[in-house]
Amino acid sequence: MERTFLMVKPDGVQRGLIGEILLRFERKGLQLVAAKLLQITPELAEKHYAEHVGKPFYPPLVDFITSGPVFAMVWQGDNAIALARALIGKTDAIDAAPGTIRSDYAVHTNFNLIHGSDSPESAKREIGIFFSDHELVQYVQTIQRWI
Ligand code: PPS
Repeated sequence: MERTFLMVKPDGVQRGLIGEILLRFERKGLQLVAAKLLQITPELAEKHYAEHVGKPFYPPLVDFITSGPVFAMVWQGDNAIALARALIGKTDAIDAAPGTIRSDYAVHTNFNLIHGSDSPESAKREIGIFFSDHELVQYVQTIQRWI
């Protein structure tokens, strides 16, 4: 069982696409472990995108990610990181395969709707930035109680 950090970016929230995006991960069979709507500060943006500090796209990336609320989530499942990135599609909407979230709804690289962790190390780091341990539910107990 693997966990990944996913985040609907400000464009996805503003366009009313949270539900549509979540539906794809639910239908795939991944399990939602935690979720919250929040406003990212410049300090939090720098923590989350630390590996991109100094790159040409870093200033517009921070401007964008702090421009409105985001919907941060943790999902789990076998190969959750790779599966989520397959559903999301490539960074640039032009390269994203048809049927992926970015192909279906995004136009630009800059406004590409959703972030997904790219490795187990990133997932662990990003989950730790946005969520405390007590916010991550333990599904096994819930399923045993109700099914
Ligand atoms: S890299 O250098 O290959 O690792 O970068 P890449 O994976 O292509 O992009 C890293 C994140 O930066 C976002 N990005 C941008 N945002 C705003 N403006 C511009 N021009 C831009 N170029 C790249 C890109 O969407 C990635 O965001 P996340 O949240 O990681 O998907």
